[in-house]
Amino acid sequence: MRRKLIVGNWKMYGSHSANAELLAGIVGGRPYLADVAVCVPFPYLSETAVALAATDIRWGAQDCSAHEQGAYTGEVSAAMLQEFGCRYAIVGHSERRQYHAESDQLVADKAKAALARGVTPIVCVGETLAQREAGDTEAVVKRQLSAVIHTLAHCAGEMVVAYEPVWAIGTGRTATPEQAQAVHHLLRAQLHAATPRADAMTILYGGSVKPDNAAQLFAQADIDGGLVGGASLKAADFVAICRATT
Ligand code: 13P
Repeated sequence: MRRKLIVGNWKMYGSHSANAELLAGIVGGRPYLADVAVCVPFPYLSETAVALAATDIRWGAQDCSAHEQGAYTGEVSAAMLQEFGCRYAIVGHSERRQYHAESDQLVADKAKAALARGVTPIVCVGETLAQREAGDTEAVVKRQLSAVIHTLAHCAGEMVVAYEPVWAIGTGRTATPEQAQAVHHLLRAQLHAATPRADAMTILYGGSVKPDNAAQLFAQADIDGGLVGGASLKAADFVAICRATT
């Protein structure tokens, strides 16, 4: 039985005071049956690490450089994230693929750089609405995951995968549990062909996860938790989602 994992992706939201209140709310909601983590903007990693130090809540970043170090203005390396105690780094989020033109290979290289420093990459894959309507969902997610599997090679079993249909992100339009499960099943089958760890691997669903739809999503056989955007910014909602696991 895989343990569920719920990860809040704060995206570019937060302030010292808002973070303190949110983190206190999440800590106050313990104990959780699931593993719980927050992925925060880089400048807030330090205060998040302090606020969560004595708890079992994990923290991470929302990106990481594919490079180890060097003249890469604005980038943050996996080694730096490791120094902040990051457990996770999201890589390949659709907002970075779309707004920063990140390629499948760059995403794979970032995942590799994270793993090399002991930071677990949460690798996002997902199709756009146009791709879904064209019947290309399977081909798109397989192509995105395949680049990472190939690059990580024997370490592929160590990543977390997140299926985030682009049309469900921030839109209030959630994939039905059946739609999400169908893609998760495909992804796990692809992982099976690549690693003996496939059955133990965590595959998260992301895209308008809310307190009222979380339990149904998390009850699906291959959905091992959620990557939560908007609803992770309100402590009461995020706590409710973290509790929606059995
Ligand atoms: P929403 O939960 O706001 O749809 O965002 C999902 C997401 O992008 C998490 O990474």
